[in-house]
Amino acid sequence: MSNIIKLGFGMVETALSYNAHVGRGALSNFADEIKSLKPKAKILIICDKKVEPIYGEIVQNKLEDADFLVETYSFKEGEYSKCLDVIDDIWTNLSQRGYNRGDLIVAVGGGVVSDIACFVSATYMRGIDFAIVPTTLLSMVDACIGGKGAINMPQGKNLIGVFHQPIYVCADTRCLNTLAPAQIQNGYAELIKTSLIAKRRSFFEWLRDNAQSILDSDEVALTNAIKLSMEEKGRLVSFDPYDNQGVREILNFGHTFAHALEAIYLSKKSQIDHGLAVAEGIRFASRLSVQVCGLDIEVVKQIDKLLDRFNIGQIQDKLEEEAIYNFMKIDKKSKNLDSMIHFVLLRDIGNPLACNVDEDVLREHISAFCRSRA
Ligand SMILES: NC(=O)c1ccc[n+]([C@@H]2O[C@H](COP(=O)([O-])OP(=O)(O)OC[C@H]3O[C@@H](n4cnc5c(N)ncnc54)[C@H](O)[C@@H]3O)[C@@H](O)[C@H]2O)c1
Repeated sequence: MSNIIKLGFGMVETALSYNAHVGRGALSNFADEIKSLKPKAKILIICDKKVEPIYGEIVQNKLEDADFLVETYSFKEGEYSKCLDVIDDIWTNLSQRGYNRGDLIVAVGGGVVSDIACFVSATYMRGIDFAIVPTTLLSMVDACIGGKGAINMPQGKNLIGVFHQPIYVCADTRCLNTLAPAQIQNGYAELIKTSLIAKRRSFFEWLRDNAQSILDSDEVALTNAIKLSMEEKGRLVSFDPYDNQGVREILNFGHTFAHALEAIYLSKKSQIDHGLAVAEGIRFASRLSVQVCGLDIEVVKQIDKLLDRFNIGQIQDKLEEEAIYNFMKIDKKSKNLDSMIHFVLLRDIGNPLACNVDEDVLREHISAFCRSRA
């Protein structure tokens, strides 16, 4: 079984494709791949302070052994680094160190690092190539694919962003050995989400049947799970690289509710794990799907079972109806149309539907969902 996925963007004027290499030991070929793509490039590795001493150094050594000139820029780990100050500092470093459009940026880290590196690469000198070494499960199954880079504003998450595809992705599952359990769960939640919307229903069935192997970090199962997720996201992105054709938006399944929960916690200067929020979003959206587009209630039970199988629990705090509703209305992805709110729902597993849900129906549903938890 090949562990190389070809991701293509043939639907856009500038046809463009790149490889994603997945699996245990994938990093051993990293320098060779970069040599074949950018033999003369000077390289800036971008990572966070936590990842730098582990994987940043490994990647730097590999590239130096292959005779590349390599420097590293690192910033404090965490979501708060997705800001203009960090971007500005990297731009300044790139220009002071004389980087030009023939050079290369390599992101080594989770989704925060790849979002920042993508943003910088798209904007420095109007575009410089970049590659990604994702080191969290979430970034392997989701963030490293699709070419979206963004920073946050006080008014909202990912409000300022770019589209800029990497030239190569190298997901070495050995990097997951050092990841905290909560971070692994964030990845599981996105994996489950993608299996529910994937065109091939067999993804969901495979995930259900192989849950224990994935939980046990079985190499073959883990690699296959990442590949299936990358392929599905890559497929959707190839039809809608700029997220303006209504295809890519189905990746937001479960996220309208999840973003509302995250915003509520943030407004209280607190935090909720993204995976937990997405899992609640999946539970909410699947129940709403029964009412709005006829999803079989038996399927909802199967979905709940899969979330339980991956030990993704439920929020224990009281769910606040009014706040959930209000934050949903301002979520940037919910196109607010008079008295409707835009949602991604499921007609069946593998059969998603983006649709507008009447405010009254939504309010009633939020109320029922919150009551069921009281
Ligand atoms: N561009 C996209 O398509 C896309 C998709 C999904 C999410 N995102 C973005 O990704 C971000 C979340 O990404 P994330 O969940 O990877 O979080 P993250 O990048 O903040 O990483 C989580 C934590 O794990 C640490 N870490 C990373 N790799 C590690 C490893 N192998 N071992 C030990 N510690 C490690 C990091 O230092 C950090 O503290 C969000 O900002 C989100 O908006 C982007």
